[in-house]
Amino acid sequence: MAHPSETDAVILVGGRGTRLRPLTVNTPKPMLSTAGYPFLQHLLARIKAAGITHVVMGTSYRAEVFEEYFGDGSELGLEIEYVVEEEALGTGGGIRNVHDRLRHDTVMVFNGDVLCNTDLVGILDTHRSKEADLTMHLVRVPDPRAFGCVPTDDEGRVLEFLEKTEDPPTDQINAGCYVFRRELIAEIPSGRVVSVERETFPQFLTDGKRVFGHVDAAYWRDMGRPDDFVRGSSDLVRGIAHSPLLEGRTGEALVDESAGVAGGVILVGGTSVGRGTEIGAGSRLDDTVVFDGVTIEPGAVIEDSIIAAGATIGANARITGCVIGEGAHIGARCELQGGLRVWPGVNIPDNGVRFSSDA
Ligand code: GTP
Repeated sequence: MAHPSETDAVILVGGRGTRLRPLTVNTPKPMLSTAGYPFLQHLLARIKAAGITHVVMGTSYRAEVFEEYFGDGSELGLEIEYVVEEEALGTGGGIRNVHDRLRHDTVMVFNGDVLCNTDLVGILDTHRSKEADLTMHLVRVPDPRAFGCVPTDDEGRVLEFLEKTEDPPTDQINAGCYVFRRELIAEIPSGRVVSVERETFPQFLTDGKRVFGHVDAAYWRDMGRPDDFVRGSSDLVRGIAHSPLLEGRTGEALVDESAGVAGGVILVGGTSVGRGTEIGAGSRLDDTVVFDGVTIEPGAVIEDSIIAAGATIGANARITGCVIGEGAHIGARCELQGGLRVWPGVNIPDNGVRFSSDA
């Protein structure tokens, strides 16, 4: 029981990714380019490296995009199936909805937007040694106030699930990765929206199920917000977050070989540059994600930002902490900062005007 080859992986990828709009208007969050690959590909590589080969994706929003890209998974050495929710069923409903595709008694479920370094086999080992019905990965974070907290007893048994609070009694938070005994998945109500965090897990505790935590303090990041998305991508590029796809290639920047980078360009802080992107002389990019087919004119300075596919950035523009949507144009000498989000196709003319969402 619980050997990786006898474990199904289920990945929840059906969310709308509203916090990352406008990047997610056309592309589901797990498919956004992160350190040169769709984010989900890093997770699939970790699953494969752990020895799990059968993967079921629970899709809904922009469901077709996943199968178009990954197909049957054979190129990745995996066997991938897709189950589409016509109406999004929530995290619990999404897990219930894949039940008849499962092959094994042990099922490892992943949120499709979490980046972490935890050894997946270690979580399976905890599940086996505790003879658990459900094992949750819990990560210890310096500031747990923004997350649901999950206290455990001395044996690692989960005591309760707490909503976000200003005064959390523990620094252990739900890390978005769970190992289920398959029978429990059948107990989740089918055909309606269910939140695994708010409904299913508390019910398991009420029912006296054996719910355990696998606690560690490894690297962990929810990629749901723009600042975390940028930081997660940069941490992958720099090797702080580990991906099997980037072994031997980590450093200050990751530049696709088809990109054109002019002389005197400085790329630092884990910046990644996508296919066919052109960067003009003297530009400086720090901790920034640049998707495919972007044009950056000479002398631009960009920090802590995401530049989506096909955008153009004018000469000497300065962009800090912003999201620039697909095909948007930022004029020469413009200054954008403070979490500004520019919608796809928007044209900000050359004029040196300063825009800031917190001005
Ligand atoms: P926000 O709208 O920005 O909160 O993002 P999200 O929609 O992705 O929600 P959240 O970050 O809470 O979701 C966590 C994970 O569960 C992500 O990988 C989502 O794709 C996935 N997810 C959320 N809701 C559903 C759903 O209804 N069905 C399925 N299959 N997956 C879901």
